[in-house]
Amino acid sequence: MIILGIESTCDETGVGIVRNGREILGNVVASSSEMHKAYGGIVPEVAAREQVKAIIPTVDRAFSESGLEMQDVDAIAVSYGPGLIGSLLIGVETAKTLALVFNKPLVAVNHLVAHVYANWINNEKLDTGNFKLPEFPLIALIVSGGHTDLILMKDHNKFQWLGGTLDDACGEAFDKVARVLGFSYPGGPEIEKIASNFQTGNWKLETRNVKFPRPMIAEDNFDFSFSGLKTAVVNLVSRNKFPENRYPEVAYEFQNAVCDVLVKKTLRAAEKYKVKYVVVGGGVAANAALENALVSEGRKNNLQVLFPGKNLSVDNGAMIATAAYWQKRFVNPLSISANPGLYF
Ligand code: KG4
Ligand code: ZN
Repeated sequence: MIILGIESTCDETGVGIVRNGREILGNVVASSSEMHKAYGGIVPEVAAREQVKAIIPTVDRAFSESGLEMQDVDAIAVSYGPGLIGSLLIGVETAKTLALVFNKPLVAVNHLVAHVYANWINNEKLDTGNFKLPEFPLIALIVSGGHTDLILMKDHNKFQWLGGTLDDACGEAFDKVARVLGFSYPGGPEIEKIASNFQTGNWKLETRNVKFPRPMIAEDNFDFSFSGLKTAVVNLVSRNKFPENRYPEVAYEFQNAVCDVLVKKTLRAAEKYKVKYVVVGGGVAANAALENALVSEGRKNNLQVLFPGKNLSVDNGAMIATAAYWQKRFVNPLSISANPGLYF
């Protein structure tokens, strides 16, 4: 079964064509993130207008990348929430129109669920022979720009929400801290790069003394809080005339604090629910420090920890097509509408 997946929840326009929920035939992403840099964050109206411009060319590019045509596609899938209403509308209305005009079944996909399903795609790991399909029951950690959630998945389409952030999402904290440090938007990749240069660079380790809290790490629940951590960074750099040349150390310690909390709470969830697999999804799953920490700590606990790889962690159309394949929940195209507040 070949599914065309459309993603337009935020500032990325993604179109992916995936066979049997595993094999990517085409996957093209257009992004308006450059246009938001000047504002230090996403401007919803700008993102929506860019979605309008990008959607049809991105569908065309995905078809040419795959060498397929609409007649080869068995179904169309679209993420209908959560996200920005103006952006969502473009993908949803496009998908509905394509489904009606070409008489294809339509699947409406939850964007957060799709981040989890990115782990079912055969990505570059297939070439190394390291690809593993996740096995149930499993714990899913979603870390994106708008969400931080721990989920117990007992089977396809069976989601038990265990906890989530009480304030800022994890990616949002990366973006806000990056802005305070003067790094450009989106902040996550910038912080990762600067933190990694700090770690491998020639810094005088004995002078390192930046320390940040690990919010809620010891609490016996699966909730998170990142806004206090962000405030700790703001207070440090703004109050004490903290020297700019030590910002890389701040980035490194901030990233460590976030990773420590995510790793500890995810492992605790895995232990409590006696799972053997953990999958991670969402933009922050592109962070190599998080992947290294969770994979190596997981190994000590006999856990298989899977990450989708950088390209499939951030928003893309292939994950929408893959989630649709495993869900197979076909809807009447006329019955769906964008749902910005959709959750589990
Ligand atoms: O999943 P995503 O592409 O969009 C949403 O659904 O929100 O996630 C975007 C978020 C942004 O906050 C971005 O800064 C963060 O993911 N992000 C990263 C990295 N790449 C993207 N955070 C940390 N390290 C990265 N390498
Ligand atoms: Zn996302």
